[in-house]
Amino acid sequence: MRILSISSLGALMCTAAGLPISETAEHVIVPRTVVLDGQRLVDAKSQLRRGNHRLKAALDHLTAQADSWMNQGPWMVTAKDDPSPNDTIHNYISQAPFFWPNPNSADGCPWREKDGVYNPDSDQYPDRMNANRMFNSTYVLSLAWYYTGKAAYAKHASNIVRTWFLDPMTAMNPNLDHAQLVPCSSLGRSYGIIDFSQEYSAVLDAIAILSTGAPGWTTSNTVAFQDWNHRFLSWLTESSFGKAESSNAAEHGTYANMQITALALFTGNMSLAAATSEFAKKLINSQIIANGSQPKEISHTRSFHYANLNLGAYLRWALVAKKVGVDLIAYKGPQGQSIFEAANFLIPAAVGGQSEWSYEELDFKPYASTDNLDAAADVGFYQAKKVLGKLPPPPGGNIFSLRPAPQQLDSIIKIQ
Ligand SMILES: *[C@@H]1O[C@H](CO)[C@@H](O)[C@H](O)[C@H]1NC(C)=O
Ligand SMILES: *[C@@H]1O[C@H](CO)[C@@H](O)[C@H](O)[C@H]1NC(C)=O
Ligand SMILES: *[C@@H]1O[C@H](CO)[C@@H](O)[C@H](O)[C@H]1NC(C)=O
Ligand SMILES: *[C@@H]1O[C@H](CO)[C@@H](O)[C@H](O)[C@H]1NC(C)=O
Repeated sequence: MRILSISSLGALMCTAAGLPISETAEHVIVPRTVVLDGQRLVDAKSQLRRGNHRLKAALDHLTAQADSWMNQGPWMVTAKDDPSPNDTIHNYISQAPFFWPNPNSADGCPWREKDGVYNPDSDQYPDRMNANRMFNSTYVLSLAWYYTGKAAYAKHASNIVRTWFLDPMTAMNPNLDHAQLVPCSSLGRSYGIIDFSQEYSAVLDAIAILSTGAPGWTTSNTVAFQDWNHRFLSWLTESSFGKAESSNAAEHGTYANMQITALALFTGNMSLAAATSEFAKKLINSQIIANGSQPKEISHTRSFHYANLNLGAYLRWALVAKKVGVDLIAYKGPQGQSIFEAANFLIPAAVGGQSEWSYEELDFKPYASTDNLDAAADVGFYQAKKVLGKLPPPPGGNIFSLRPAPQQLDSIIKIQ
């Protein structure tokens, strides 16, 4: 059973159906975030008020990021010209990013996968790029509103979410039937679920933040958004693509199951959230080995990117699982495998750069580990704590202290 602080207990008692309707004795509503720890946001806000310099520096980065989104969006799946391959323009559509036409055939068929080599033509379908703009902007704008109280941030975030998910004219259908299609061979694949699972859980936290009373976001918006997520979760757990992605043995499976856990908690399916949290232990046993290497990830041509990608899913998953009483941080597999060892494995290259990394990496990004090691240090990993001052900040600056959960900092999707 998790122990609730008085203020978070107060918030929970006042929020039947997930709707904050009343304030606690301390006059603070704790955001019911599913990845982030809501109480940590409350604490950071009060420390900012008391003039904490480190947090103020992070806030300057956060507001600069938020400002950069103020004149962009909202985006919508219905903006594309061509509704194919399905007749409904309300379906999300993307093309597999690493597939290329066959140079030896007149029609380019069959397409071939080149691991880690992004095909810019896949961006002819605008939904993936726009979804990533939507994920990032929603999160950054909601956080910026939370810490500054500037209504314009919350109103823009609310408009972005309503347009993408809720407005009947523009709303996305809650499925990924046509994500990561491959020309000549498929109209969509289970692998396309990662288009959402990598970052979508941040939007759930953004809405939990806006639901503490943000201008522009209403309780009926919360109800409608809950309903969308209920249907999306059913698709993820019941469709053949959803089942295939959740059974994937590598990072696709980690992200799919982390996303299901987050959605289960968000929609109030506690038994599903607890069961999927337990399942993480099986994946740790099979994906991480005793010395912290992740062989399935290291085998990619972008091994540092993939090792960080998968570790980021575990670190986020651990934050969700903690809320349903499952401790993934303390968990050790039969050979001693753990999230801690996986983080530890990346430290030399995170600090020393590519010369400290002995595996193939086509495009080494020195900051790829920074959020992961911040997150590892935050949950008490001593080796990560020791190197915090030596980690290169990501583009846009380090905002970890204001949203203590890792994001993937070296996404293959170039949103700006
Ligand atoms: C098209 O989309 C609708 C609504 O999501 C879905 O019911 C239908 O199965 C899809 N058709 C194909 C061919 O994927
Ligand atoms: C929770 O999820 C499980 C598995 O998908 C499902 O069978 C069950 O009906 C859900 N419970 C609720 C209350 O939605
Ligand atoms: C980690 O362990 C595996 C399996 O024993 C081994 O092949 C690999 O070389 C080790 N890597 C390091 C960096 O120690
Ligand atoms: C989100 O967008 C901001 C503004 O463009 C950018 O600085 C930041 O790096 C992005 N965050 C992630 C995790 O990609």
